[in-house]
Amino acid sequence: MNTVEILSKSRVIPVIVIEKAEQAVPLARALVRGGLPVLEVTFRTEAAADAIAAICAEVPGAIVGAGTILTVEQLRAAKKAGAAFCVAPGFDPAIVEEAKNMLMPFCPGVATASELSQALTAGCPMVKFFPAEAAGGVKMISNLLGAFRFTGVKFMPTGGVNPANLADYLAVPEVLCCGGTWIVPKDALAAGDWDRIERLAAEAAASADKIRA
Ligand code: 3PG
Repeated sequence: MNTVEILSKSRVIPVIVIEKAEQAVPLARALVRGGLPVLEVTFRTEAAADAIAAICAEVPGAIVGAGTILTVEQLRAAKKAGAAFCVAPGFDPAIVEEAKNMLMPFCPGVATASELSQALTAGCPMVKFFPAEAAGGVKMISNLLGAFRFTGVKFMPTGGVNPANLADYLAVPEVLCCGGTWIVPKDALAAGDWDRIERLAAEAAASADKIRA
């Protein structure tokens, strides 16, 4: 599957920052139960690779990718752990090239027309629009589409997306999905409050369904 196919499978992608790899399986199960099967585990913690490997081994309903990929080494570690896709906050041609070589579906981050143009030239038709709210939100995406729509580019806005603005982003046809951390709040994760996380996932999935209908 390519990036567009994978990220089309869910309209909301939980962005996970996990400190304890042993929490990965119950967390992923709660998110899948709530209706969000596509997960992004960020390489912002030491536990990321182990968390991805554990989810791959024990949560067959989940499609787990790696996020915050800033180096080629992280990309390799993500692949080794079993990540189905990788996401980065920015556009780095060296990382995109390496991802291509290893046949890893890769979604780079862009916030400007120049970065988007480079991502498309590098063969990435699906980009993370980051940091979405700070970079101009839905208005910026609409303006970018004025120039880039014909390319067929698809967006995953992330950064400042929340239950209040989710519908506005998802209403843009070129927005395949949105990412965000609000579905996995720090305190809920620390407390192992899987019911709350499942509820947040279900709420996000339900509001996304409403827009599609
Ligand atoms: C990311 O890397 O995708 C962002 O940190 C997520 O941003 P959020 O915390 O505003 O959802």
